[in-house]
Amino acid sequence: MTSKQRIEVTVNGTRHVREVEPRLTLADFLRHELHLGGTHVGCEHGICGVCTVLIEGRTARSCLTLAVQCDGADVTTVEGLRDPETGALHPIQQAFVDGHGLQCGFCTPGFLMSTVELLRRTPQPSEEEIKEVLGGNLCRCTGYKHILESVQLAARRLETPQAG
Ligand code: FES
Ligand code: FES
Repeated sequence: MTSKQRIEVTVNGTRHVREVEPRLTLADFLRHELHLGGTHVGCEHGICGVCTVLIEGRTARSCLTLAVQCDGADVTTVEGLRDPETGALHPIQQAFVDGHGLQCGFCTPGFLMSTVELLRRTPQPSEEEIKEVLGGNLCRCTGYKHILESVQLAARRLETPQAG
């Protein structure tokens, strides 16, 4: 029998203290302990990217990360993107809606979190830079064209909020 380990993790600005099994993944911790179902689980092998979250502002596969590795860390999930005051969608989320960057939506949280990191680092990325970063996320519905265009729309809007 493995002994549980106490961890303190800040998720979307809220501190959580839990006793967890050392083998518990961050994805399962978020989904089952904290009931944050926005982080999806697909391949569980680091391939599909649907489980992508930000740890200390950097993207990470939550299916390949243990919850105990996040002790003391700051984690952001897709639920943390909305404006906490108004509940409004983050500009990147709105751009995916307006740009038809999703169909079933299963892959969307991963694409959104990857885009957050991309546009923080490179506010006006080239098409090649977008493809390079989003190449780590799989989508079975859209054919990627609308996702690419949604990221470009988000980049324009973040620079000039009135941009269409
Ligand atoms: S579920 Fe984590 S990369 Fe696929
Ligand atoms: S929108 Fe369905 S998998 Fe991407």
